[in-house]
Amino acid sequence: MFFKGDKEELAIDAERVPKHIAIIMDGNGRWAKKRGLSRKMGHKAGADTLEKISRCAQDLGVKHLTVYAFSTENWKRSEEEVSAIMDLLRKYLDEHIKKCKKDNFRVNMIGDPSRLDRDIQEKINTLTSLTKDNTGLYLHIALNYGGRDEIERMVRKVAAMAAAGDMAAEDIDDKIISENLDTAGIPDPELLIRTSGELRISNFLLWQLAYTEFVFSDKLWPDYNENDLKEAVYNYQNRDRRFGGRK
Ligand code: FPP
Repeated sequence: MFFKGDKEELAIDAERVPKHIAIIMDGNGRWAKKRGLSRKMGHKAGADTLEKISRCAQDLGVKHLTVYAFSTENWKRSEEEVSAIMDLLRKYLDEHIKKCKKDNFRVNMIGDPSRLDRDIQEKINTLTSLTKDNTGLYLHIALNYGGRDEIERMVRKVAAMAAAGDMAAEDIDDKIISENLDTAGIPDPELLIRTSGELRISNFLLWQLAYTEFVFSDKLWPDYNENDLKEAVYNYQNRDRRFGGRK
């Protein structure tokens, strides 16, 4: 499969497309500011980019796409911005409920839903159950998600199991930990993409990114396109992954 690189056509090996890509969709605010628009308009453009990129990931043969839509820290933003993002989320969920069979995505949420408004929680549950028998991309949306919060919740669950005598503390291993995170059953991402030129992981998937390859893009999320995604996959395919070992 070929796509346009800077100077020449570049080839992606269809056999080695990452099964799981995680994305930190950053730069909506700066994109809006540059155009004299409200931050809400930036997030709206960001939601449109998410649509394009999810479809492209599915076409490339990616199985899982996890996107950071709202972090546990994002509540610190102005009430106006938080409610604008929540309204966009409502709209996004409603639209996906309508076209759930057409896209063929399987939608899932990671994060702690308890702080989200009741109607949003209900829409998420509806969409998850309507799409569970689809056969395409698993689209995991991180909402009120924080890596440390997820680990805290996991430790509480595992500690409670040990305290109840369901297992011994010595039995706690990599597998038990993974099975009690929000991402239970999902393979770790092979590739993480962050847009907007920021070089940090901002509390995203702290456990799961242990051996993930990172690709950073200077583009702001609303400007990110299908070709950029293909370039990131190409980049990933030309890395030497050793998982701490030697070749
Ligand atoms: C980061 O840009 C983006 C977010 C905090 C929210 C991401 C939300 C979307 C892509 C759209 C809504 C999602 C759904 C699923 C409807 P920023 O605001 O931090 O940008 P800045 O760093 O330039 O200010």
